[in-house]
Amino acid sequence: MPSRVYWQHSCGGIYWCLAPIKPGLLPFPGDLIDLLPFLGNILKVTAAFCGIHLLGVIFVPDILAISSSPRRNGNSELALRSFCRAAEEKEIAVELIRLHELRLSPCRGCELCARDGKCVVEDNMQPLYKKVVEARGLVLATPIYFGSLSAQLKIFIDRFECWWHAKYRLKKPFVLPEQKKAGFLLCAGALRKPEFGDNAAFIAGVFFHSINYHYGGMLHLQGLDNMGAINSNPAALKDAYDAGKEFVRSRVLL
Ligand SMILES: Cc1cc2nc3c(=O)[nH]c(=O)nc-3n(C[C@H](O)[C@H](O)[C@H](O)COP(=O)(O)O)c2cc1C
Repeated sequence: MPSRVYWQHSCGGIYWCLAPIKPGLLPFPGDLIDLLPFLGNILKVTAAFCGIHLLGVIFVPDILAISSSPRRNGNSELALRSFCRAAEEKEIAVELIRLHELRLSPCRGCELCARDGKCVVEDNMQPLYKKVVEARGLVLATPIYFGSLSAQLKIFIDRFECWWHAKYRLKKPFVLPEQKKAGFLLCAGALRKPEFGDNAAFIAGVFFHSINYHYGGMLHLQGLDNMGAINSNPAALKDAYDAGKEFVRSRVLL
């Protein structure tokens, strides 16, 4: 009799489920993520050979981690990775996205999205909408630029104008508040000025509210300027790790 098989992969591992067996986790090096489609095909063929009906192969991160610094491995990204390590240690799948590696246009303000809640701009934002629908946690990391968010993050946020229409005008939000998804903001800045973090958090709070993600808090790491400065600041890395641990615990992502 054919069984139902469902598996998903993440940077952290391959998850598989052969109903009614519970999902399991096989360690998988994130650097080899590109091999997963190939492995998916092998699994499909093997499943077919065993008379198993494979329902699909999907990638569903529990936490979507958005790095918005133009510097790969910048302070905010390293803080983000510390935050996410706390989640991965609890076997929560995390996908890290670097906005500066994507082709993202700013919102055109065309308001064509008012018709159906969908953005008409065809660029790398399109798959991100789907990921935000599917994730349970959304963590935004940004350097402080002129007392606010990075331009890359603001572009990402503004492109959710379509979700604003879906929620407020069309009354058909893509995420429901009852789904209890949560967002968090991580900022890294050179100056010890908490108001810069508050400013960024205010914008992130408006964003999370508009997309029906509950605001799960913020951490503003201050006194970090040069590339990699956070590596000489174990207290800052620990703060980020502890924030990740608390986010996972309090938001019941376990
Ligand atoms: C264009 C620009 C504007 C900045 N503005 C601020 C600022 O207003 N306040 C602040 O604390 N740091 C400011 N900084 C410093 C960065 O926030 C700091 O270097 C941070 O560690 C960069 O994070 P990243 O390594 O993740 O890119 C600015 C840096 C740049 C390049």
